[in-house]
Amino acid sequence: MSNLFHTYNQFPMEIVDGHDWTLIDNQQKEYLDFTSGIGVCSFGYSNELINHLVTNQIGKVWHTSNLYPSQAQEEVAKLLCPDGMVAFFCNSGTEANEAAFKLARKATGKTNVIAFKNGFHGRTYGSMSLTGNSHISEGFAPLVPNVEFAEYNSESAFEQVTDDTAAVILEVVQGEGGVVLADKQWLTELQEVCHQCGALMIVDEVQTGIGRTGTKFAYEQFGIEPDIITCAKALGNGLPVGAMLGKEKLVPAFGPGSHGTTFGGNKVSMAAAKGVLQQLTPEFLDSVSQKANVLKEELAVQIKPLPVVKSISQLGMMVGIKLDDQVAVADVIADLQKAGMLTLSAEHNTLRLLPPLIISEGDIVFGVEKIKSSLKNVMVVEEQ
Ligand SMILES: Cc1ncc(COP(=O)(O)O)c(C=O)c1O
Repeated sequence: MSNLFHTYNQFPMEIVDGHDWTLIDNQQKEYLDFTSGIGVCSFGYSNELINHLVTNQIGKVWHTSNLYPSQAQEEVAKLLCPDGMVAFFCNSGTEANEAAFKLARKATGKTNVIAFKNGFHGRTYGSMSLTGNSHISEGFAPLVPNVEFAEYNSESAFEQVTDDTAAVILEVVQGEGGVVLADKQWLTELQEVCHQCGALMIVDEVQTGIGRTGTKFAYEQFGIEPDIITCAKALGNGLPVGAMLGKEKLVPAFGPGSHGTTFGGNKVSMAAAKGVLQQLTPEFLDSVSQKANVLKEELAVQIKPLPVVKSISQLGMMVGIKLDDQVAVADVIADLQKAGMLTLSAEHNTLRLLPPLIISEGDIVFGVEKIKSSLKNVMVVEEQ
């Protein structure tokens, strides 16, 4: 019997090695990776600069408590923060959202938060309470009070924001929810309502941030300016690091003793984050957009016409292929694994693609061909 809680339904193989955007299992089988972990290893599995900075730090001090200043945190914050924002470092996406939730209540002196149906913000109590998916919170009540859910992309959300609202939290692309994009006009109107009511806008960029969508943060493509941004996942390319970024006006609400963490902002994770952010140049982001265009064209030609495909949604290198109910996404993922390719699922029977951002255009084309043949295989089997 395993000595682990069975909190994950796991695939049959263990990944033990990798390079570039290739992973290798314990039977030496190779896989073309279209997952990046779950949107984590955007720079793949053998990035020289990140490896160098991390191994260099491993040879020095790994950890000092946050009772001492950290030049490494200052450097990463400078590279990460949009103008006029400051950072708080933690270890994960859910922790970044916990920090955002606490800061919003403390800074505004208000308690109510509006979150969205089909959204996902993490598994700790605060973040789970903000997550608009009842199976995530099933069995864990009572949740954190004064959280109300609104319909995503619907004007009805505007009426739910009132003068008593501390914050509105959302993903500009709902990742776990099936890669659902916010409507730009709706989002700018929502921001306007937040301003009128003195509510802070928190944008959860845990999955969408750090170049995934072709810009450093996805919100940049939606014409909004959040008060608080949360990020994690790709920030450390696999080392645990999260960050909550907030406007400078919020600094007094998070003074000494108000919030903290033992491990957050440790020097090894900061070395990884520095390596990631130093490579997230405008030229690199342009290359991501170019690859995303190749992926879009391939999907439109090869995948969209298949009868089993209901719709395709995409922003940058984040894709959701929503499948017809006759085909189970789990079967497609299993067939692709047999064929040497890794993919992900998301809500609503969606095949989710989050390839490393360094993948070659050739392997994007090759991967889409593999998806096409797996969809056909699974279609045939499930018709029988
Ligand atoms: C949008 C979003 N927010 C928060 C989280 C939680 O992040 P973590 O698993 O690092 O706690 C996730 C994880 O999938 C996510 O996609």
